[in-house]
Amino acid sequence: MTQPAATETEPLTIRRLSLADLPQVMVIERRAFTAPWSLAMFGLELSKPSGICLAALRGRRLVGYLVCSRYDTVWHVMNIAVEPERRRSGIATALMAALFARADRPGQRYTLEVRPSNLAAVSMYERLGFRPAGRRPGYYHDNREDALIMWRTAGE
Ligand SMILES: CC(C)(COP(=O)(O)OP(=O)(O)OC[C@H]1O[C@@H](n2cnc3c(N)ncnc32)[C@H](O)[C@@H]1OP(=O)(O)O)[C@@H](O)C(=O)NCCC(=O)NCCS
Repeated sequence: MTQPAATETEPLTIRRLSLADLPQVMVIERRAFTAPWSLAMFGLELSKPSGICLAALRGRRLVGYLVCSRYDTVWHVMNIAVEPERRRSGIATALMAALFARADRPGQRYTLEVRPSNLAAVSMYERLGFRPAGRRPGYYHDNREDALIMWRTAGE
């Protein structure tokens, strides 16, 4: 799927992710992960009325996305990825900030799982206030890597 070109001078905008974005999402997803989500998994998350799914765009080009689900009182960050050529320019941070702007309440809690070997992601989450809180042994099916569980509480 060919995406519109974009230059770094075009403003970054964040809006809700839609079904029409999914072909562009899948291109980034397959480049970002050794065990990428399927199209059906994104469709399922988008169908949940309580979820927050966001797209980051430079001009008309989709350059990143975030999927967050609410279970009971807790927000679970399920997926976040940025186009490889555009990493380290604040796009994932902007997506997370947009999530917090929509979901933060005093004491609101967020959780996620991340591969301990994914130093870029762990470092980003720590900068955003997430703290390690244990591991799920052998959680990732492709290489049996543990998952690091992280939590963030709004306002802390
Ligand atoms: C993790 C990911 C989403 C970060 O996206 P990004 O837009 O590059 O992140 P940002 O530019 O907002 O970076 C925020 C901070 O995270 C940390 N960080 C991001 N990438 C890093 C890297 N490669 N090495 C070390 N720290 C890194 C830094 O502290 C960075 O701040 P700085 O650039 O001012 O030093 C991106 O690397 C990605 O898509 N990875 C593949 C998918 C993935 O692993 N998703 C997370 C699954 S849990």
